[in-house]
Amino acid sequence: MQSPSTNNLCLLFCFLATLLAAGASAQQSVTSSVSGKNQKPITAIKPKPNSNNIPMVGVDSTTLLPLSKHPNTVEGAIYADATKGAAERTLDLLRRMTFEEKVEMTGGWNKFLTHAVERLGIRPVSMADAGQGVRLSTTVIRTRSVSFPSMIALAATWNPSLAETFGRSVGEECRALGVDILLGPGVNMQRLSMSGRNFEYFGEDPFLASIMAREYVLGLQGEKVISVAKCYLGYDQEFCRHIASSNMDERTMREIYLPIWESIVVEGKAMGMMTGNNLFNGISCYMHRPLINGILRGEYGFMGIAMTDWQNSSYFPDMQESVLTSGVSLMMPVNTTLKDYIEAQAAISPQRKAEIEILLEKMNFYTLYPLFAFGVFDREFSDPAYYKTFESHKTLARHVADEGITLLKNDRNILPIPAGKKVLLLGAEELQCGAGSGAVEGYDHISFAQGLRTVYGDRFAVNTQIDEAQVRKSDVVLVNLTKEGGEGRDIPFEGPDEQLDLLRKVVKINKNVVVLINAANGLPTDWLKDVRGVLWCYFLGQERGAALADVVSGKVVPSGKLPFTIERSPADSPAPTFNYLGGKPYWRGNNEYRSYWLGMEPATKDEFSRFVKPGEMLQVPYEEGIYIGYRWFDRKNLPVVFPFGYGLSYTTFAYKKISVRDAMASEGMVYVDVEVANTGGVDAQETVQLYVHEVNNTVERPQKELKAFAKVLLKAGESRTVTLALNSRSFSFWDVETHGWKYNPGEFRIMAGGSSVALPLTVGYELKVTGNE
Ligand code: BGC
Repeated sequence: MQSPSTNNLCLLFCFLATLLAAGASAQQSVTSSVSGKNQKPITAIKPKPNSNNIPMVGVDSTTLLPLSKHPNTVEGAIYADATKGAAERTLDLLRRMTFEEKVEMTGGWNKFLTHAVERLGIRPVSMADAGQGVRLSTTVIRTRSVSFPSMIALAATWNPSLAETFGRSVGEECRALGVDILLGPGVNMQRLSMSGRNFEYFGEDPFLASIMAREYVLGLQGEKVISVAKCYLGYDQEFCRHIASSNMDERTMREIYLPIWESIVVEGKAMGMMTGNNLFNGISCYMHRPLINGILRGEYGFMGIAMTDWQNSSYFPDMQESVLTSGVSLMMPVNTTLKDYIEAQAAISPQRKAEIEILLEKMNFYTLYPLFAFGVFDREFSDPAYYKTFESHKTLARHVADEGITLLKNDRNILPIPAGKKVLLLGAEELQCGAGSGAVEGYDHISFAQGLRTVYGDRFAVNTQIDEAQVRKSDVVLVNLTKEGGEGRDIPFEGPDEQLDLLRKVVKINKNVVVLINAANGLPTDWLKDVRGVLWCYFLGQERGAALADVVSGKVVPSGKLPFTIERSPADSPAPTFNYLGGKPYWRGNNEYRSYWLGMEPATKDEFSRFVKPGEMLQVPYEEGIYIGYRWFDRKNLPVVFPFGYGLSYTTFAYKKISVRDAMASEGMVYVDVEVANTGGVDAQETVQLYVHEVNNTVERPQKELKAFAKVLLKAGESRTVTLALNSRSFSFWDVETHGWKYNPGEFRIMAGGSSVALPLTVGYELKVTGNE
């Protein structure tokens, strides 16, 4: 990863300088704003209840016209001229907007739309959740959208080009559905196996997550849809999410939690982001100036929309001045709290109003600039031509699910199961996605049962309960365990009790059991020794059944690798008591404490108010520092159930040779050649993983860190040399003395293999140079 180019920084400063100048001139023109030539009042329709019969929800079609067709567009104006640059157009528009319009532009108009400037022909801009596709209940046009696999399943493919195609396909759906801004992907780190939104993220490793998320963003934005990566920063658990502070030190922030943001902003050119509901080191994320204006905008050159999450702009009403200067630009879904503050301040004096207006213009600039840059006001609201891409999206959804499903156990080759065998599916009905804003409805669903039936025909049966004879007579019994993730609540490690009970009974009747895990959270695995196979299935979207059947039948050879570690028990995790209140875990985080906490109600309905005073922040200390995931388990020498990067195949691979070509001095790169062979009988994909360790480290460093990977297809019997590239960042740590990345000369160990614990090849490498970025 490169640091932001000086060009970017220059650009940023130039823009800000221009913006300030424009701000000053706008002061003079506030009262003489130009209005649209043929100005006609356009009435917005209030949102109607979600109805499948009403494709357009919330607005009438005139309101959504592009600038070239809107009756109120100022003829000849720069902002309306699609041949002009985005910054110039934004500044021109800002010059024409009234103080009130600028205030409105800092907030949403209704749940998923921004304010229009109807007077000037600027339409409202639409946004929709989430990541695994478009969540129709949030869109204006509600026809159909494909439910792809969840982000965690995408991460499990370890296939960056699939991530790019995935993002592009979701972008195509957005263009059909009139979605200008997609509220995704989720890019928080999996710090805890119990975190409720793990399914929306890319797992526990900053390197894997950075590459996969960056590719998704590049694909999505390639379709001129703004990606709002979320939620910045340290929003890694749902526990009391609006009032809990994620507290971490500088090195932890830089090495674990920021790399993904650097990657999607600097390399992926993300033009949107959402701030976390949480606080970060004691300051609410949406008012965190060092994080937003400092790191994101100043260091990474982020020129995009920085919006709040949906409930948190009403928390901390007394600190609204810092919202104006933090670098955030848009309060969603509404700016009521900020607006009250602005109006009160503007009433103090004309000078104060003028000061505020400059701040508003900065905020508005960051919201409007990306919209002009992406041509949002120049194009038709929706482009039905994109519907013809949807069929290919179904194929892609199946492909991603095929590559994501992760084979964790396969004793006596119980899988694949040949056609003609008697297969029984038991357990919970599977979920195709998690709950909350990460949910995507999808259509033409193929359930697990439907998918399996197409392969095994009438020799396939499904049951929710145990019929002893049926279980005994089956050749293989698949037992599905489901744990639903979702926003606003973390997921207890224990359970799902009923399904686990059922499983424990089934293994007593039939030994040929394969467990399907339909989840993204930790769970007890005491049953593991009693089953022959395990497939981790995450949430696989609408094509889930087809993909499961592909893998179970052997049509597809599994190639997924775990993007997280499966721990033995929550006690092994870096923060087992992360959500303790009064000595007990508290599993809620969805705003129910708001009225009490803000002093509007005497108590909450549950035990919360016994332990937390109104206005009192909760603390989530990230005491494990840089040691999350495998870094933690390595350091503590704790055995795990399945390690990060692990996943079996229907073939076997042999890692044969490793060598290093040092081009650090000339190219800033180190090339590592790894020879890997498919030693089994079927063609299959393998992900070659490269981990780095500094031997004579001056600061404490993890035993190993993933620094490169490549997924390759190897024919049965084929041997191939894969070249992986490392750069200075691969050897660096964050130096708290100089506040920068640093690499020291000396001995490094480079390890290659097929998982974080199976690394048969090791080579020493002596870094001869030192450096800072
Ligand atoms: C979630 C966001 C989501 C928003 C809009 C919030 O509760 O945290 O991720 O984009 O709602 O649905």
